[in-house]
Amino acid sequence: MKRTPFVAGNWKMNGTREGAVKLSAAIKPQNGIDVVLCPPFPHISVLVGTCAIGAQDVSAHDEGAYTGEVSAGMLADMGCKYAIVGHSERRQYHNETDALVCAKAAKAIGAGLIPIICVGETRAEREAGQTAKVIETQIAGSIPPSATGANIVVAYEPVWAIGTGLVATTDQIAEVHGQIRALLENRLADGAVLRIIYGGSVKPDNAAEILGLADVDGALVGGASLKAESFLEIIKAVKV
Ligand code: PGA
Repeated sequence: MKRTPFVAGNWKMNGTREGAVKLSAAIKPQNGIDVVLCPPFPHISVLVGTCAIGAQDVSAHDEGAYTGEVSAGMLADMGCKYAIVGHSERRQYHNETDALVCAKAAKAIGAGLIPIICVGETRAEREAGQTAKVIETQIAGSIPPSATGANIVVAYEPVWAIGTGLVATTDQIAEVHGQIRALLENRLADGAVLRIIYGGSVKPDNAAEILGLADVDGALVGGASLKAESFLEIIKAVKV
């Protein structure tokens, strides 16, 4: 089963509207690869139509008195196609639980968005030998019943590798991706088409090695997606 490679840039809380337009103009859609840009909310509307656009978060509610939140319906209405849910920065700084991540992913799917559902262990958990257990718990708790292999993307992002310059070894990545695939392949309808991507200090100089792994279907890129040259080099490293 051929899975379309998937590379997303998570811009986090960076940049101006003008910079966002310039960056997306330099990236452009790429043949045979799903390239997705995830700008901050205020920059979404000016970017829709240039590349596929994803939000960095989505509300677990449809509408109402939820100050500061943005619903999946609003994002779909703006032309968004994807939404990151459960990024470790949301889990860590906003106390997001698996149950909340699951509810957010369900709302995204319900609105026709593809949630990019993030999981990953902390350094302490890895050092304590708990990685497999943590991943199993997060996968069990964060993937909604409405998920299929086609309507979600799963991102494995070891927390200790995000923004630190530390990259998981290819053995570590292969092991966790294999575990996630084994957990979901039969649980999900169309499990064979599920894309599992890696995130955590992906850079032009390590992209080919990581993206060359059998169970790695793409990358979720933070820092290196903020410059067109480095993001394009990572995209170039994808084997189509
Ligand atoms: P990084 O971020 O590439 O800067 O490590 C990845 C992410 O947070 O998705």
